[in-house]
Amino acid sequence: MQRKSVIVTGGASGIGLASVERCLEEGASVVIADLEESEGASHAAALDGKHAGRCLFKACDVTDTAQVGRLFAETVEELGGVDAVFNNAGIGGIAPSDEVGDEEFLRIIDINLNGVFRVARAALRVMYRQGSGSLVNCASILGVFGQSQAAAYTAAKGGVVNMTRSLAIEAAPKGVRVNAIGPGYIDTPLLEALDDDMIQGLISLHPIGRLGRPEEVANGFLFLASDEASFVTGTTLMVDGGFTAGKS
Ligand SMILES: NC(=O)c1ccc[n+]([C@@H]2O[C@H](COP(=O)([O-])OP(=O)(O)OC[C@H]3O[C@@H](n4cnc5c(N)ncnc54)[C@H](O)[C@@H]3O)[C@@H](O)[C@H]2O)c1
Repeated sequence: MQRKSVIVTGGASGIGLASVERCLEEGASVVIADLEESEGASHAAALDGKHAGRCLFKACDVTDTAQVGRLFAETVEELGGVDAVFNNAGIGGIAPSDEVGDEEFLRIIDINLNGVFRVARAALRVMYRQGSGSLVNCASILGVFGQSQAAAYTAAKGGVVNMTRSLAIEAAPKGVRVNAIGPGYIDTPLLEALDDDMIQGLISLHPIGRLGRPEEVANGFLFLASDEASFVTGTTLMVDGGFTAGKS
C-alpha cells in the first residue's frame, strides 16, 4: 500500500478505524470519512502525528450525494487520486418486522445500501479516469444468511453482495476491481446494544469459538485493496470464523 491513497467511510470507529490503522502501517495515505466529526477528527489528528502526516479526516454523510461528491473531489485534489476505497459506513438494526415503520426501514436501506451505491458511483468516476483502482464494499454474513428481526439490514447487505458482482463486471474492462467483504460478528461498538447472553449466543455460531476482531476484517480489506488481489474481482471474502461454512 506504499504511496497509495485510500478512503475509508465509517472510518471513525470499529472495522473502519482498524482498516485506517492497517493501511497507515502499510504506507498508504488515508482519509477517514465519517458522520461523526469529533471522533473522526480526533482519531485522524492522533494517527496523522504517528504516521508522518498521512491521515486526514473529512466529514461525510453517505446519505448525501453532494457530500460524497465533495469527499472524492477534495481527496483527488489533496492526494492526487484515489487508489482504494473501503465502502464501510453502516448501521445495525434489530426489531420485529411487524413493528418496523417506513422511516426506520428506509433509514437502514439509505445508509447500508443506497449509501454504498453513492460512494461506489463516486469512486468509479474517479477510478475510471485513472484506469485503475480497487473498491471494497462492506457486506456481512447477513448478506448471504437471513436473521430474524433484521429484514432491512439483511436486505441491504444482500443487495451489497449482488451489487458488487454487477459493478465488478461493469468496471473490469476499465481496470477497476470491485469486491466485498463479509464479516461475521465482530467486537465493535455496533454490538454494544447486545447483552451478555446474546453475545454468548453469537459466539456459539462461529466455529472458531469467538467474535472477530476489527483488525481481522481490516486485513481482509487490505488484501482486496492491494495489488496482491490483482486477479480478484466480484467476490465477497467472508471473514467470519466459519459462520457461513455450515452447521457442526
Ligand atoms: N460489527 C459487526 O459484527 C459487523 C458484522 C458484519 C458487518 N458489519 C459491517 O461493518 C461495517 C462497520 O461496522 P462496525 O461494526 O465497525 O460499526 P461501528 O458502529 O463501530 O462503525 C460504523 C461507523 O460508520 C459511521 N456511519 C454511520 N452512518 C454513517 C453515515 N450515514 N455516513 C457516514 N458514516 C456513517 C459511524 O459514525 C461509525 O463511525 C458496517 O457496514 C457494518 O454493517 C459489522
